[in-house]
Amino acid sequence: MNISAELQKKINASGQGHLLKYWDTLTETEQKEFAAQLEAVDFTVLPGLISEYVLNRPKTEIPADLGPAPFFPAIPRNDGEKQLYAQAEARGKSLLEAGRVCCLTVAGGQGTRLGFDGPKGTYPIGPVTGRSLFAYFAQNIKRCGEKYGKKLTWYIMTSKLNNQATVAFFRDNAFFGLDEEQVFFFIQGTMPAIGYDGKLLMAAPGSLSLSPDGHGGTLLALRKSGALDRMRQEGTDIISYFQVDNPLVHVADPLFIGMHDLEKADMSAVMLAKTGPFEKLGNFCVSNNRLQIIEYSDLPEELATKRNSDGTLAFLAGSPAIHLIKREFVEALTARSNLKLPWHRADKKIPFINEKGEQCSPAEPNGVKLESFIFDALPLAEKTMVMEFDRKEVFAPTKNPTGVDSVESCRQMLVERDAARLEKAGVKIPRNADGTVNALIEISPLAVLDEEDACALAAQKEITVAPGSQTVLEQ
Ligand code: UD1
Repeated sequence: MNISAELQKKINASGQGHLLKYWDTLTETEQKEFAAQLEAVDFTVLPGLISEYVLNRPKTEIPADLGPAPFFPAIPRNDGEKQLYAQAEARGKSLLEAGRVCCLTVAGGQGTRLGFDGPKGTYPIGPVTGRSLFAYFAQNIKRCGEKYGKKLTWYIMTSKLNNQATVAFFRDNAFFGLDEEQVFFFIQGTMPAIGYDGKLLMAAPGSLSLSPDGHGGTLLALRKSGALDRMRQEGTDIISYFQVDNPLVHVADPLFIGMHDLEKADMSAVMLAKTGPFEKLGNFCVSNNRLQIIEYSDLPEELATKRNSDGTLAFLAGSPAIHLIKREFVEALTARSNLKLPWHRADKKIPFINEKGEQCSPAEPNGVKLESFIFDALPLAEKTMVMEFDRKEVFAPTKNPTGVDSVESCRQMLVERDAARLEKAGVKIPRNADGTVNALIEISPLAVLDEEDACALAAQKEITVAPGSQTVLEQ
């Protein structure tokens, strides 16, 4: 088959004529697939992108007026705040009861750091049973639906690379007790990888080298997949957003939801006090009255280490990537499928085929992958809200096999969180001399969503945790 004259013209005009070098050697099926890939690339904007992000190395601009972002503290400081928090929590509960909230997990990343072969959400993180990350979220969502009398729809963003395996995992596990229709999978977009010479890299004679376009791609993918339409039909207007690597997250927190709503925010964010100036978290900042997150890698050292007069970090607020997003905000941002988020450049070793058609695996970075970030939508919002949460309650990321933010630390935090809940419910927990829990405890999220549930469970049955034991509490 011949390539359409129009597409060929666009490709040549953008200086990417090399992509068609092998066209005549491809089978008709390969040609069709390749043509579809090429049609999806916006060749008109490509030269601009390449010049800005590949041939030049953009620096994150640090505005002169950059300051730390204000936030609602985890613990209300006075009677006025106490009243406000109580009002917000009640509001959040009533929004959950009214079915106005849905959940959204971004699970399209490649999880290379974890060194796990498979979608990250399938990782067996449960400290005793090896319950998967997806199972934690699913069972929390199920329990949340039972508690507030309204099932929550769960939107899961996958990528072309892991969608099939993700869906198969849910089927094999009977959707972890959720109704199949409650879960809506959608696939994020891709971006072509670009060589340092500004030419798109090819993975095969009939294929571009494509990679996921970053979690900023969520916003357009929500529109293109029909997820926004479904939300509108179901009457949900608050999206509870979290990452696939954090099983401690509150999938839909009433206080956070209520405050977001009372503040009429377009987009809200959970914040944590950073453990130190260089903790690998995005930093909440304000400039020109707009909230923004500056990645840990981009915050200049003098700002990261700046201290207030009382010794605390000036830029204390770190992002666990937990957000609430108003559906209407996503609709407005993606109207006419025209979303403008900045791109972020990552230099990578990208396998490619050379001019002779040979497969090459470079030993050094040879090109650039471009990603957009969802938090770059924050400065586009008229109204935002940031609320502090206790790290022990909401954040245990699984990023590395060992050490900081690892499988080990995550399991430990799951045990500590479940132990603390049981202790509050009056259960005696064996502890080591250093205060850590001397047992492996895993409570099913189907049984316990929050402290209230833990108290109910402890009232229902005798719970004993023996020193050194492995204790699993199911429903
Ligand atoms: C991220 C945040 C950082 C935050 C930290 C908290 C970025 C750039 N930074 O860092 O501000 O403090 O988490 O843990 O995100 N994903 C997709 N599609 C993609 C890329 C990523 O769905 O194309 C998903 C991943 O599956 C994962 C999440 O986005 O759930 C985060 O990606 P990751 O690359 O792990 O971000 P971090 O560098 O850890």
